[in-house]
Amino acid sequence: MPPFRLAHISDPHLPPPKGSLGLGDLVSKRALSAMAWRRKGGQHDKAILDALVADIGARAPDHIVITGDLTNFSTVQEIAAAQTWLSSLRPLGQVTVSPGNHDALVGPDETQRFAPWGAWLADDETLAFPHVRVRRHVAIINLCSAVPTAPWLATGRLGEDQLARLARLLPDLAARGLFRVVMLHHPPIPGVVSARKALEDGEALRKILAADGAELVLHGHAHEAALGALPGPSGLVPVLGVPSASARHGGRHPPARWHEIEISQDPDDRQVWVTARGPSALTGAFETLGRYRLTAV
Ligand SMILES: [Fe+2]
Ligand SMILES: [Fe+2]
Repeated sequence: MPPFRLAHISDPHLPPPKGSLGLGDLVSKRALSAMAWRRKGGQHDKAILDALVADIGARAPDHIVITGDLTNFSTVQEIAAAQTWLSSLRPLGQVTVSPGNHDALVGPDETQRFAPWGAWLADDETLAFPHVRVRRHVAIINLCSAVPTAPWLATGRLGEDQLARLARLLPDLAARGLFRVVMLHHPPIPGVVSARKALEDGEALRKILAADGAELVLHGHAHEAALGALPGPSGLVPVLGVPSASARHGGRHPPARWHEIEISQDPDDRQVWVTARGPSALTGAFETLGRYRLTAV
């Protein structure tokens, strides 16, 4: 059997449709975000995102995971535009989204907050996070670290209930011989982002991973490529972050990139290969930036 091929992208920060912000938003966090967008918006380019999506399409992975920040202010208009964009990527069931802090700025209560993303969160939307999607020999475990925060913060939190469910799920999925990919927006490794942007209950997540393990953790939020590891029960758990899918060359952060992750089927000879694809600085055409094997230590 060929390997399962997963495309990981993050932080597309789709351009806000005109008129996204209403009068009522002027006194909310959205107004501050709008000011930040005016400062930072030039860092993102929809044409680059379109080229990245075309590159993914050409390589036809089995599944696409998106670790959050599809929007900027999480307005109704932005979410509608994001739904249209998501629908254009792949049929439902082949794209999984973990919301980011920009997708949960303000809004309805806990149960309703992520309802518009439902079709891209899970196969069974009635369940709570973490959602699990099993595709061939891979279990995609979708955590949600997005919470509304004070205006000057971009912190994340998983919460006790979600963490307790994760601790129950991980051993079951391992017992089924599945390759467990945990996805969330905020980096779980301390220091990858500043305290102002950090995962507040990262320590609790790291304890669960140390006890129950996972084969791979994917995140976004940092807008940087980050390869690290966390202790697992029988070795290290690789942790992989990817830059924004729409970042220009020469901006504050590295340019756009996506990762193609190939996961072989045989658990006795597990091979995981990562190919980084990004736009050439000269031509803008997408090319392979590097390819390496992830090895459990
Ligand atoms: Fe972001
Ligand atoms: Fe973020």
